[in-house]
Amino acid sequence: MIIHSATFIKSCPSLAELPKSEYPEFAFIGRSNVGKSSLINMLTGRKNLAKTSGQPGKTKTINYFLINANWHLVDLPGYGYAKTSQRQREKWLAATTDYILKSDNLACLFVIIDLRISPQESDLKFMEFLGKNQISFSRVFTKSDKVSANAAAKSIEVYDKLMLETWEYLPVTFVASAKTGKGKDKILSFIEETVNNFSKNP
Ligand code: GTP
Ligand code: MG
Repeated sequence: MIIHSATFIKSCPSLAELPKSEYPEFAFIGRSNVGKSSLINMLTGRKNLAKTSGQPGKTKTINYFLINANWHLVDLPGYGYAKTSQRQREKWLAATTDYILKSDNLACLFVIIDLRISPQESDLKFMEFLGKNQISFSRVFTKSDKVSANAAAKSIEVYDKLMLETWEYLPVTFVASAKTGKGKDKILSFIEETVNNFSKNP
């Protein structure tokens, strides 16, 4: 898929402010600083579309982007960032969970995972929550530029083995790098296919 247009629509602190739209939505979630916003910029080929930062906790609201005038990218705040106040964390989590459970147009949630870090309780728990609530998701192992292909394959193997202890099957999985563009074509093709099916079977 070629990205012809990518525009920022709205930053929403709560569900009440979400834009009314019929387009399928692809949302990015994961631990703070894992690279969600960077991945959005890489996929759209727009360097500063989503705001990124070396400091965890950059994205604090539900940010909507309209792509090619027929689907949305949604940048979500990260979870598991210890330095924010408990109250603030709960607020973000409530808004995000609310969005995930209530959005009628969520076509797929991309759970972004840092390839260099061993499986984290917060990610595994979050995916369990998605499974229990029948939310479609896929995994994106990112920052692949920081490890060798061998190490990447090994990390994923360890992850898969662990998940297969509780999951019957594994979700669709991508390997990506916001730095090198790895994974771009595969993720965009997957989105394109999902957008096409979504409009045919609303
Ligand atoms: P929050 O909004 O704070 O939850 O963070 P985020 O998940 O949106 O992460 P963000 O995209 O802001 O990136 C965090 C840091 O990781 C930045 O310093 C990025 O430059 C860096 N980063 C993100 N993706 C990659 C990647 O694929 N490779 C490398 N080398 N660095 C990356
Ligand atoms: Mg972010």
